[in-house]
Amino acid sequence: MLNFELKNPTKILFGKGEIAKISKEIPRDAKILMIYGGGSIKKNGVYDQVKEALKDYDLHEFGGVPANPEYAVLLEALSFIKENNITFLLAVGGGSVIDGVKFLSAAANYDGEPWEILKNSVRTMEGEGLPFGTILTLPATGSEMNSGYVISRRETNEKLSSGGPGLFPQFSVLDPEVIQSIPKRQIANGIADAYTHVLEQYMTSPSSADLQERIAESILISLQETAPKVMSGNFDYDAAGNFMWCCTMALNGLIQKGVVTDWAVHAMGHELTAYYGIDHARTLAVIAPSHYRYNFETKKEKLAQYAERVWKITEGSVEEKAEAAIRKMEEFFHSLEIQTKLSYYTDDYKDTADRIEKAFTERKWLGLGENKNLTPQDVYKIVEMSY
Ligand code: NZQ
Ligand code: ZN
Repeated sequence: MLNFELKNPTKILFGKGEIAKISKEIPRDAKILMIYGGGSIKKNGVYDQVKEALKDYDLHEFGGVPANPEYAVLLEALSFIKENNITFLLAVGGGSVIDGVKFLSAAANYDGEPWEILKNSVRTMEGEGLPFGTILTLPATGSEMNSGYVISRRETNEKLSSGGPGLFPQFSVLDPEVIQSIPKRQIANGIADAYTHVLEQYMTSPSSADLQERIAESILISLQETAPKVMSGNFDYDAAGNFMWCCTMALNGLIQKGVVTDWAVHAMGHELTAYYGIDHARTLAVIAPSHYRYNFETKKEKLAQYAERVWKITEGSVEEKAEAAIRKMEEFFHSLEIQTKLSYYTDDYKDTADRIEKAFTERKWLGLGENKNLTPQDVYKIVEMSY
């Protein structure tokens, strides 16, 4: 097992009715900016619950953060924060709103052009960001219990990430009831995103970190078992709760400790969102199978372990099990009604591999994957296999 440090200071408030408790988590004299997305929270009652919980507070609002949080919109929020001396940020939404708030937390106290934080991956250290909490409305990204974020800039077709130990939420409310209003397509996205988060931290080479591997496999199995229940449209509180907690646990830092991690699928996937606006999770389902096929030799033992432990495939050689594992993964994405080929999402795909190869070369992303040896030319081939 590799050496590791683990500190996750986010307090989780899990369950029905927990939104009512947030006033206990925010200083009474705080000047709060509540930030949300396109308005789903006004239709499903979450907005009213937050207003009620904070009725005795100096509470301001900023709505309209779009999916794949847009830099230009966030700059407007940043001006509001500075002009009104806001002291606490409250994200009410999915990964996009939460990521937007993390960026604002980092940018509020940053001297200089805010885009530098993304462009140069400036890390925000403890005590440097503006304090914030979150109310999660869409299980998927794990952003509610980690310190990373991803921001899009349509003007330049860029989608870049940053983070740092100063960007963990102080608290996050996980109320499974919020799932009732989520469209099926977004539920599917949430499952696929969380599933791929586990794969990125697991599908490398066999490790001696037995517990992390077993936890990762448990999250994958739990997501597989929960998926049909939350996709059915009939609300089941416990299924919703399991789905939500799986998503949080998939990317709160725990399963990546003591092991090597990959994250190349996300790096390529983010480009597909930046170019074509494809939902984040769907870009991962497009890239992942090709990535595992292309890197078959280095990943086959772990693929076979996944086949055995997660899909109960016990027959065949390592290679046969590993191949079956990739097919099972694709079938799982298809069971969520998620397509796994780029050509399904856009007709304009033919120069994508070339574009991504050039973008990664320019950014000097010259060695991706757990072994840091996937070159932009390898990336070209993986993306081309995903057409
Ligand atoms: O904007 P509103 O009206 O709220 O609607 C949203 C949005 O249209 C809707 N929605 C959210 N909760 C709802 C709901 N609709 C009805 N009922 C509810 N309870 O869902 C739509 C999508 O929301 P969004 O926040 O964009 O989805 P998601 O949580 O999947 O976040 C995606 C973003 O997170 C980034 C992605 O790249 C993408 O930008 N990621 C962040 C990560 C992190 N911080 O750790 C890791 C991930 O890998 C990912 O990259
Ligand atoms: Zn993701």
